[in-house]
Amino acid sequence: MNAHNQPIAFLGGLTAEAFLRDHWQKKPLFVPNAFPHLAQALSPKELKTLARNEDMQSRLVLKQNDRWDLQHGPFSAQKLARLPAQDWSLLVQGINHVLPEAAQLLQAFPFIPTARLDDVMVSLAPTGGGVGPHFDSYDVFLIQGCGSKRWQISAQQDQSLIEGIPLRILQHFQAEQEWLVNPGDLLYLPPRYAHHGVSLSDDSMTWSVGFRAPKAQELGQQFLMYLEERLQLDGMYADPDLRVPLHPAEIGPDMIRQVGEMLRRISWSDTDVADFLGHYLTEPKPHIFFESDDFIEDVTEFADMLNQQGVRLALASQMLFQGNRFYLNGESVDAPSSLHPWLARLADSRRLPPDSYPEELAELLFPWFEAAYLERGVTP
Ligand code: SIN
Ligand code: CO
Repeated sequence: MNAHNQPIAFLGGLTAEAFLRDHWQKKPLFVPNAFPHLAQALSPKELKTLARNEDMQSRLVLKQNDRWDLQHGPFSAQKLARLPAQDWSLLVQGINHVLPEAAQLLQAFPFIPTARLDDVMVSLAPTGGGVGPHFDSYDVFLIQGCGSKRWQISAQQDQSLIEGIPLRILQHFQAEQEWLVNPGDLLYLPPRYAHHGVSLSDDSMTWSVGFRAPKAQELGQQFLMYLEERLQLDGMYADPDLRVPLHPAEIGPDMIRQVGEMLRRISWSDTDVADFLGHYLTEPKPHIFFESDDFIEDVTEFADMLNQQGVRLALASQMLFQGNRFYLNGESVDAPSSLHPWLARLADSRRLPPDSYPEELAELLFPWFEAAYLERGVTP
């Protein structure tokens, strides 16, 4: 892991601390040639193949005569083969769940908490293609794969959107800064920063490393669902002093007061909030399934494998922890504190190298291996 006071080449020589202080959630950063080898990690043809897969989330944005059209995948091979020569963009989410190089790219950002991570999206566009001027609600690192693009950005306050179209496109985009980007170039944008990318070559690919910033409303709704499952309120409504009401159909003030007092007893602690976050943030998206044909007979055999080959999280696995409570793909386990260093290492770096591990660790990890959350070996 990077020491936080060391210059980081892909941040243009800034330290992680300086980047967080001066740029993160504040202002853009452009770094030429930050990830020079990314273009080789995924070809246009491979991205199109992923867009045909029903387990991937893909979108196609088409612009014809100033009219925007949005279609959702999966897309057939014929459809992808018959796209126009210009002015479209194909976007595929969750590339880190299927491509080891994309998962590895995320490991370049250990200075941002895993809990903030969303996913890696890759877009493909011919000359003229793009998704229009817009803003996103999350932090994003846009990295050029193959081909080239023109990025224009603006700190404009006017965020009004064109109405009546299926995409979020700014009505009045006024570029303030512009870059012509080539393979490996990186542009970091804070949330709500207006940007507009237009492809300048055929087969232009952009990798978006996005960091989620959940809305208060979404967190509130999800937290209430979490609380609902765990709510334990004692007592019941009582009215021994009931008087004959003037209107039997009226909800009387005594009832409102008593129920209000009951509801105010719904409470939660920081431990509940942490537990909610652990489950919510690691919960796999509905289209994600875990399966493996790697079979291990029992925990003894698993322990030998663990010590000799090590293990890694499956590409789609999400692991977080708080104290000695570890969350993996929406499930949780309380680990003995003796196992904390290894489990924290697995969560932080997504792998445990070969070593001689205690039997207890193998016992804890084996069910995760059987669920295909974990895989054998440290490299895919
Ligand atoms: C693109 O890859 O062209 C669009 C990515 C973005 O603007 O968020
Ligand atoms: Co964007």
